Amino acid sequence: MKVSLKLLFSSLVVAAAIVFATVVHSPTIKAAPGPDRTSRAGLMPIGKPVKIKAPLGLPAVPIPPDNPPTEETIALGRRLYYDPGLSVDGTVSCATCHAPNLGFGDGKALSNGVDGKLGTRSAPTVVNAAYNTLQFWDGRSASLEKQAEGPMANPVEMGHTLEGVVKFVQSDPTYRELFLKAWGPEQITIDLVTKSIASFERTVVIGDSPFDRFYYGGDKKALSLAAQRGLKLFLNPKKGNCNVCHVIGKKFALFTDNKFHNIGVGADTSGNFADVGLYAQSKNTAYMHDGSQATLKDVVDHYVGGGTSNPHLDKEIHALDFLTFNERADLKAFLESLTGTLPRNVDPPADLSSVKTQTAQKQ
Ligand code: HEC
Ligand code: HEC
Repeated sequence: MKVSLKLLFSSLVVAAAIVFATVVHSPTIKAAPGPDRTSRAGLMPIGKPVKIKAPLGLPAVPIPPDNPPTEETIALGRRLYYDPGLSVDGTVSCATCHAPNLGFGDGKALSNGVDGKLGTRSAPTVVNAAYNTLQFWDGRSASLEKQAEGPMANPVEMGHTLEGVVKFVQSDPTYRELFLKAWGPEQITIDLVTKSIASFERTVVIGDSPFDRFYYGGDKKALSLAAQRGLKLFLNPKKGNCNVCHVIGKKFALFTDNKFHNIGVGADTSGNFADVGLYAQSKNTAYMHDGSQATLKDVVDHYVGGGTSNPHLDKEIHALDFLTFNERADLKAFLESLTGTLPRNVDPPADLSSVKTQTAQKQ
């Protein structure tokens, strides 16, 4: 399956000034980590170790020492990821907002959780999230493991409690069997749930785009001439200057510097970050954390205009109105070359394949 740029372009480079936002994502509700919990968190998987192969253009997938992926933990995590049983009313799974058919995003400006409740942010893709050193738009979570707890306990996402999720899996014979195979006879805990989901997520990596084949694979025909010109603009500090934040490295490109930047999204001119105007969105694709840019042309125009001027604007952001219309089209052609193909075995497992991964768009 083809996945578009928005999904590949690790959008971890995040608007720093989100800390000033008046409307923020609900905080993670997490249980206090007692000593017992910590020791269980260190529990190692049993089963068959798997080496996750990084595609062309991506570095080795970072693996935490206490959670090496195995066939069994990945399979278990895949099932948990697609299971709406993890939500309070059995209607919302991770895939509701990070759906494989939508490149592991939800194709919406804002995401619906349980009861169609609307969040305040656009669901970013899970594709290549394995490489993020910071997980949320505001960088709240340090690892995929920790991150996975957030949505389960978030009232506008899966609306459950971590205890409720654990009870659900403990009471299900299929899960008891899968946990036994993946983790041995230890009691099922939230840490084992999130470690399994994280191992599955680490397999959702996409590279080998036309750009990767051109730049790292030596295939000079992989990019159109327009896209090749666009790449030069992207790299040129006097032109696009995009590379300072969306880094293209010598051996791989994550298109992010994993740092926070204020690029004038979601801000008003005095620098108040209101995340305003979102509820009026009716577009079905969204770039930027607040879903404010619907198409790649909008994104390019955003940069051409220099973003919404505000006192916290990054010094690397300046209007690019000197770019000719041909240059803007070339830049867009380059961005369009950042597409790739999903790996195998990341779609819903057979027994959950009938579960719907989309909630109706509610405005
Ligand atoms: C109701 C929609 C919704 C559900 C359900 C949901 N997410 Fe998310 N997810 C989001 C939104 C919105 C964000 C951005 C959050 C923010 O910036 O505060 C996000 C962020 C993430 C990220 C960070 C991605 C990145 O590139 O920064 C990961 C990973 C992720 N979710 C995984 C999961 C997993 C695993 C589950 C299931 C346990 C899940 N999500 C359930 C909406 C959802
Ligand atoms: C100062 C750092 C910075 C510079 C320079 C920069 N960007 Fe960005 N870019 C960001 C940040 C931060 C985001 C995420 C913003 C958000 O979601 O609110 C982003 C988001 C994007 C997205 C959307 C990605 C997605 O997954 O939705 C695209 C496409 C993009 N930038 C292209 C460009 C292009 C093209 C240029 C050069 C003309 C450029 N950027 C220059 C920081 C930068």
